[in-house]
Amino acid sequence: MEKKILDIRSLKKYYGKGENITKAVDGISFYVLEGEFVGIMGPSGSGKTTLLNCISSMIRPTEGEIFLEGENIAAFNEKKQMEYRGSKMGYLFQDFKLLDNLTGLENIMMPAAIHGMKEKESRKRIEKLTGFLGIRRILNKYPSQMSGGEKQRIAAARALLLDPAVILADEPTGALDTKNARHLMDELSALNKEMNRTILMVTHNPDAAAYCSRILFLKDGTIFHELRRREETETQSDFYARIADVMAQLGGGASNVL
Ligand SMILES: Nc1ncnc2c1ncn2[C@@H]1O[C@H](COP(=O)(O)OP(=O)(O)OP(=O)(O)O)[C@@H](O)[C@H]1O
Ligand SMILES: [Mg+2]
Repeated sequence: MEKKILDIRSLKKYYGKGENITKAVDGISFYVLEGEFVGIMGPSGSGKTTLLNCISSMIRPTEGEIFLEGENIAAFNEKKQMEYRGSKMGYLFQDFKLLDNLTGLENIMMPAAIHGMKEKESRKRIEKLTGFLGIRRILNKYPSQMSGGEKQRIAAARALLLDPAVILADEPTGALDTKNARHLMDELSALNKEMNRTILMVTHNPDAAAYCSRILFLKDGTIFHELRRREETETQSDFYARIADVMAQLGGGASNVL
C-alpha cells in the first residue's frame, strides 16, 4: 500500500480579527503519497505560501491537522516542531537563503552541525549529493561568487542532507532565468524519480509545474481544482497546456507571470 507522507485535514489559517480578518487558508484538505511531486498554484494572495509555512510549522494554523508520517505536527510544542522542521523537512526558497559568509560546502553542512549528524555520515551524503547535483567545483566558493542556478543547487544539497521525508519549495525557480529554471526542474524531477523524494512545490511558472505529477490550484484559501498528469500517456507539453487552461480560468495574477 502506498504510504501517506503528508495528510492535511481541514487546515485554516486566519490573520487578524473581526473586520480585519484575512482567511488566508480556509479549509484545505489533501494528502501526499510517498514519491509524489505535487505542485501548488494559484493567484497572488490565494494562500500558497501560508499553506506551505503551516506545513513547515513556520506558522501555527488557526485550525486543522497536519500529519507528517502519521504524527500531527500542528499539535507539537515549539521544541518538537523545531526538531521536526530541521530533520524531517527540507526547504528551497525563491531567494535561496544561503549564508553569505559561509562557503558552499559550509552552507550544505549547516543542518548537520545543528542536528548532530556524524561527520563520517555527512561526508558520505555530501559526496553523493554534490555529485548528483553537479556542484563539486563550486563547494569552496562563497554565494556572492555563484550564479543563481548554482546557489539554488547548493541550497538543494543543504535541503537534502538530512534525508528529509518531504521537500518543501516555495517558488524555487522564481529568481532564475529560463535556462537555470529548467536545469533546476530537471534536477528536482530526477530527485523525485530516481531517489523517490517526495516534493511539494509552490510555483507560478507553468513550465515548472509541468514537471509535477499532480497540481493543486488554490483560490481564496481553498482548493479550486486538481490536475493529475496522465503518467504513461501524457507529454509534458500536453500537461503544460492543461495547466495553462486552469490558470486562465483562475485569472487574477496567476497568468500574468507567464
Ligand atoms: N502575516 C500576515 N498578516 C496578515 N495577512 C497576511 C500575512 N501573511 C499573508 N497574509 C495575507 O494572506 C493572504 C495569503 O497570502 P500568501 O502569502 O499565502 O499568498 P500567496 O498565494 O503565497 O501569494 P503570492 O503568489 O503573491 O506569493 C493574502 O491576502 C495576504 O495578504
Ligand atoms: Mg507566496
